[in-house]
Amino acid sequence: MEYSETVPVQYQEGTAAFMDMNVLVDPRVLIPRPETELLVSVAAGLCRGKSWKSPVILDVGTGTGVIPLGLTKLIEDCRVIGADICEEALNVARENLRRFNREDRVELVVSDMFAAFVPEYENFFDCVVSNPPYVSEKDYEGLDAWVKAEPRIALCAGREGMDHLNVLAGQSGRFLAPGGFIAVEAGYDQAQKVKDAFRVSGFTDITAFRDFNGYERVITGWKRG
Ligand SMILES: C[S@@+](CC[C@H](N)C(=O)[O-])C[C@H]1O[C@@H](n2cnc3c(N)ncnc32)[C@H](O)[C@@H]1O
Repeated sequence: MEYSETVPVQYQEGTAAFMDMNVLVDPRVLIPRPETELLVSVAAGLCRGKSWKSPVILDVGTGTGVIPLGLTKLIEDCRVIGADICEEALNVARENLRRFNREDRVELVVSDMFAAFVPEYENFFDCVVSNPPYVSEKDYEGLDAWVKAEPRIALCAGREGMDHLNVLAGQSGRFLAPGGFIAVEAGYDQAQKVKDAFRVSGFTDITAFRDFNGYERVITGWKRG
């Protein structure tokens, strides 16, 4: 097989590695990154620490569905709803759920952020998790061609890259059950802004977790019980 230099190798091969799984990828979806494995392991650890029976988790911006795949691998009895604004991305997620036999534990929903969950799912989820788009306009310009081969809608989040993170901070409390938590991935320089936004929205025990390069990349916060 001859490889092109401008198309990510994962798109050329049709798969990407995530938590010991080979998930299907193509240009309809973002290629999963190692930082997202940290997000999944942090969220799973917090869920398991609570000894909840059958926790219900919402993944906002599910893309390939790697977060539901990872969570259902690490938390035996959880159920996950994977939401995405992009129907094409959900078709890839659907193929991945079939590939790993998770169709009975993960539901997929087209939704612009929380829009599809009003009002039935208010005070409902034990955990809201998300790896949202978080690239700023300026950073997008400087990205390599092979990163720009990924869907722009999966990367870009307004001028500061905070558009989706701010919605998550501002609205997830409404959809979390009392005592539930939010866990998000953010860019290498966005953790402080996310922590501030969580604080303003009333989350407690706000904590940041570092990636292998020492950057705070995963931020969690709790809704009062
Ligand atoms: C950074 S990708 C994350 C994909 C996957 N969860 C992962 O971690 O690899 C962000 C995802 O959010 C979706 N997205 C973008 N804007 C959205 C919105 N307003 N509402 C819901 N999903 C959105 C994109 O289609 C994309 O699949």
